[in-house]
Amino acid sequence: MSEELKVRKIKDGTVIDHIKAGKGKKVLDILGMEDGSSSVTALLMNVTSGRVEKKDIVKIENKTLGKEEVDKIALIAPHATYNVIKDFEVINKSKIELPDAIEGILKCPNPKCVTNMNEPVKTKFKVEEKEPVKLRCNYCERLINLKDVL
Ligand SMILES: Nc1ncnc2c1ncn2[C@@H]1O[C@H](COP(=O)(O)OP(=O)(O)OP(=O)(O)O)[C@@H](O)[C@H]1O
Ligand SMILES: [Mg+2]
Ligand SMILES: [Zn+2]
Repeated sequence: MSEELKVRKIKDGTVIDHIKAGKGKKVLDILGMEDGSSSVTALLMNVTSGRVEKKDIVKIENKTLGKEEVDKIALIAPHATYNVIKDFEVINKSKIELPDAIEGILKCPNPKCVTNMNEPVKTKFKVEEKEPVKLRCNYCERLINLKDVL
Protein backbone atom coordinates (compact mmCIF):
# COMPACT_ATOMS: atom_id res chain seq x y z
CA MET A 1 0.00 0.00 0.00
CA SER A 2 1.62 3.20 -1.17
CA GLU A 3 -0.67 5.32 0.83
CA GLU A 4 -0.74 6.84 4.19
CA LEU A 5 0.82 6.97 7.48
CA LYS A 6 -1.26 4.72 9.63
CA VAL A 7 -4.37 6.45 10.82
CA ARG A 8 -7.08 4.43 12.47
CA LYS A 9 -10.08 3.77 10.28
CA ILE A 10 -13.09 5.92 10.78
CA LYS A 11 -16.40 4.27 11.47
CA ASP A 12 -18.72 6.84 9.92
CA GLY A 13 -17.74 9.98 8.11
CA THR A 14 -16.07 11.40 5.05
CA VAL A 15 -12.86 10.84 3.12
CA ILE A 16 -11.95 13.40 0.49
CA ASP A 17 -9.33 11.72 -1.63
CA HIS A 18 -7.26 12.74 -4.68
CA ILE A 19 -6.95 16.35 -3.59
CA LYS A 20 -4.12 18.00 -5.47
CA ALA A 21 -1.10 18.12 -3.17
CA GLY A 22 -0.99 21.37 -1.26
CA LYS A 23 -4.74 21.98 -1.32
CA GLY A 24 -5.74 19.78 1.61
CA LYS A 25 -5.33 22.53 4.16
CA LYS A 26 -7.60 24.77 2.15
CA VAL A 27 -10.22 22.01 2.04
CA LEU A 28 -10.15 21.91 5.83
CA ASP A 29 -10.55 25.70 5.90
CA ILE A 30 -13.54 25.52 3.62
CA LEU A 31 -15.18 22.93 5.81
CA GLY A 32 -14.58 25.04 8.88
CA MET A 33 -12.51 22.36 10.53
CA GLU A 34 -9.87 24.73 11.83
CA ASP A 35 -11.77 25.85 14.85
CA GLY A 36 -15.10 25.07 16.37
CA SER A 37 -15.10 21.48 15.21
CA SER A 38 -14.89 18.51 17.49
CA SER A 39 -14.77 15.86 14.77
CA VAL A 40 -11.72 13.63 14.68
CA THR A 41 -9.95 14.85 11.57
CA ALA A 42 -6.88 13.76 9.62
CA LEU A 43 -5.03 15.67 6.96
CA LEU A 44 -2.58 13.56 4.98
CA MET A 45 -0.26 15.53 2.77
CA ASN A 46 1.90 14.55 -0.17
CA VAL A 47 0.70 10.97 -0.36
CA THR A 48 2.10 9.16 -3.39
CA SER A 49 -0.55 7.90 -5.73
CA GLY A 50 -0.79 6.57 -9.26
CA ARG A 51 -3.50 8.86 -10.48
CA VAL A 52 -2.05 12.22 -9.56
CA GLU A 53 1.58 12.85 -8.80
CA LYS A 54 1.09 13.55 -5.17
CA LYS A 55 -2.15 14.05 -3.37
CA ASP A 56 -3.62 15.19 -0.10
CA ILE A 57 -6.37 13.30 1.69
CA VAL A 58 -8.79 14.65 4.28
CA LYS A 59 -10.65 12.33 6.63
CA ILE A 60 -13.34 13.55 8.96
CA GLU A 61 -15.25 11.39 11.36
CA ASN A 62 -18.98 11.88 11.87
CA LYS A 63 -19.39 14.37 9.07
CA THR A 64 -21.09 14.20 5.70
CA LEU A 65 -20.95 17.01 3.18
CA GLY A 66 -23.78 19.13 1.84
CA LYS A 67 -23.98 20.29 -1.77
CA GLU A 68 -22.67 23.73 -0.94
CA GLU A 69 -19.64 22.26 0.76
CA VAL A 70 -18.98 19.92 -2.17
CA ASP A 71 -19.29 22.83 -4.65
CA LYS A 72 -16.91 24.91 -2.63
CA ILE A 73 -14.38 22.09 -2.52
CA ALA A 74 -14.76 21.73 -6.29
CA LEU A 75 -13.47 25.26 -6.70
CA ILE A 76 -10.10 24.45 -5.20
CA ALA A 77 -9.88 20.70 -5.64
CA PRO A 78 -11.58 19.72 -8.89
CA HIS A 79 -11.40 15.98 -9.52
CA ALA A 80 -11.16 15.11 -5.86
CA THR A 81 -13.18 12.10 -4.76
CA TYR A 82 -15.82 12.26 -2.06
CA ASN A 83 -16.18 8.98 -0.19
CA VAL A 84 -18.91 8.41 2.36
CA ILE A 85 -17.85 5.98 5.07
CA LYS A 86 -20.40 3.91 6.93
CA ASP A 87 -19.46 1.14 9.33
CA PHE A 88 -15.82 1.42 8.22
CA GLU A 89 -16.66 0.86 4.54
CA VAL A 90 -16.95 3.19 1.56
CA ILE A 91 -20.66 3.12 0.81
CA ASN A 92 -20.72 5.92 -1.74
CA LYS A 93 -18.06 7.46 -3.94
CA SER A 94 -18.48 10.46 -6.17
CA LYS A 95 -16.17 12.59 -8.22
CA ILE A 96 -16.26 16.19 -7.18
CA GLU A 97 -17.05 18.24 -10.27
CA LEU A 98 -17.41 21.94 -10.66
CA PRO A 99 -21.03 22.77 -11.49
CA ASP A 100 -21.90 25.30 -14.23
CA ALA A 101 -23.06 27.77 -11.61
CA ILE A 102 -22.27 28.32 -7.95
CA GLU A 103 -25.17 29.52 -5.84
CA GLY A 104 -25.25 31.01 -2.42
CA ILE A 105 -21.82 30.16 -1.08
CA LEU A 106 -19.60 32.96 -2.33
CA LYS A 107 -19.85 36.67 -1.70
CA CYS A 108 -19.50 39.04 -4.64
CA PRO A 109 -16.46 41.28 -4.07
CA ASN A 110 -18.19 44.21 -5.77
CA PRO A 111 -19.57 46.40 -2.95
CA LYS A 112 -22.12 47.92 -5.35
CA CYS A 113 -23.46 44.54 -6.42
CA VAL A 114 -27.14 44.03 -5.63
CA THR A 115 -26.21 40.92 -3.67
CA ASN A 116 -24.41 43.18 -1.19
CA MET A 117 -27.33 45.54 -0.64
CA ASN A 118 -29.58 45.44 2.40
CA GLU A 119 -32.20 43.37 0.66
CA PRO A 120 -30.58 39.97 0.69
CA VAL A 121 -30.25 38.36 -2.74
CA LYS A 122 -28.65 34.95 -2.98
CA THR A 123 -25.40 35.14 -4.94
CA LYS A 124 -24.98 33.29 -8.18
CA PHE A 125 -21.83 32.94 -10.23
CA LYS A 126 -21.53 31.41 -13.64
CA VAL A 127 -18.48 29.19 -14.06
CA GLU A 128 -16.98 30.55 -17.27
CA GLU A 129 -13.80 28.54 -17.18
CA LYS A 130 -12.96 25.54 -15.10
CA GLU A 131 -9.19 25.40 -15.07
CA PRO A 132 -8.15 27.84 -13.83
CA VAL A 133 -11.53 28.79 -12.47
CA LYS A 134 -13.16 31.94 -13.78
CA LEU A 135 -16.47 33.02 -12.32
CA ARG A 136 -18.85 35.75 -13.39
CA CYS A 137 -21.40 37.31 -11.06
CA ASN A 138 -24.86 36.77 -12.42
CA TYR A 139 -25.99 40.18 -11.14
CA CYS A 140 -23.23 42.73 -11.68
CA GLU A 141 -21.39 40.65 -14.29
CA ARG A 142 -18.06 41.25 -12.66
CA LEU A 143 -15.42 38.67 -13.48
CA ILE A 144 -14.29 37.16 -10.22
CA ASN A 145 -10.89 36.03 -9.16
CA LEU A 146 -11.14 32.90 -7.06
CA LYS A 147 -8.73 34.23 -4.45
CA ASP A 148 -11.01 37.24 -3.91
CA VAL A 149 -13.96 35.12 -2.90
CA LEU A 150 -12.45 32.21 -0.99
N1 LIG B 1 -13.00 3.36 7.24
C1 LIG B 1 -12.11 4.19 6.67
N2 LIG B 1 -11.45 5.09 7.43
C2 LIG B 1 -10.58 5.94 6.88
N3 LIG B 1 -10.27 5.97 5.58
C3 LIG B 1 -10.88 5.10 4.76
C4 LIG B 1 -11.83 4.17 5.26
N4 LIG B 1 -12.28 3.43 4.22
C5 LIG B 1 -11.64 3.89 3.11
N5 LIG B 1 -10.81 4.90 3.43
C6 LIG B 1 -10.00 5.70 2.50
O1 LIG B 1 -10.90 6.24 1.55
C7 LIG B 1 -10.30 6.29 0.26
C8 LIG B 1 -11.14 5.51 -0.72
O2 LIG B 1 -11.18 4.16 -0.31
P1 LIG B 1 -11.32 2.99 -1.37
O3 LIG B 1 -11.27 1.70 -0.61
O4 LIG B 1 -12.49 3.26 -2.25
O5 LIG B 1 -9.95 3.14 -2.14
P2 LIG B 1 -9.61 3.07 -3.69
O6 LIG B 1 -10.10 1.78 -4.25
O7 LIG B 1 -8.17 3.39 -3.80
O8 LIG B 1 -10.50 4.25 -4.30
P3 LIG B 1 -10.24 5.10 -5.61
O9 LIG B 1 -10.56 4.24 -6.75
O10 LIG B 1 -11.25 6.24 -5.43
O11 LIG B 1 -8.82 5.56 -5.55
C9 LIG B 1 -8.88 5.76 0.45
O12 LIG B 1 -8.02 6.88 0.65
C10 LIG B 1 -8.98 4.91 1.71
O13 LIG B 1 -7.76 4.87 2.41
MG1 LIG C 1 -7.05 4.89 -4.60
ZN1 LIG D 1 -21.89 40.90 -8.21
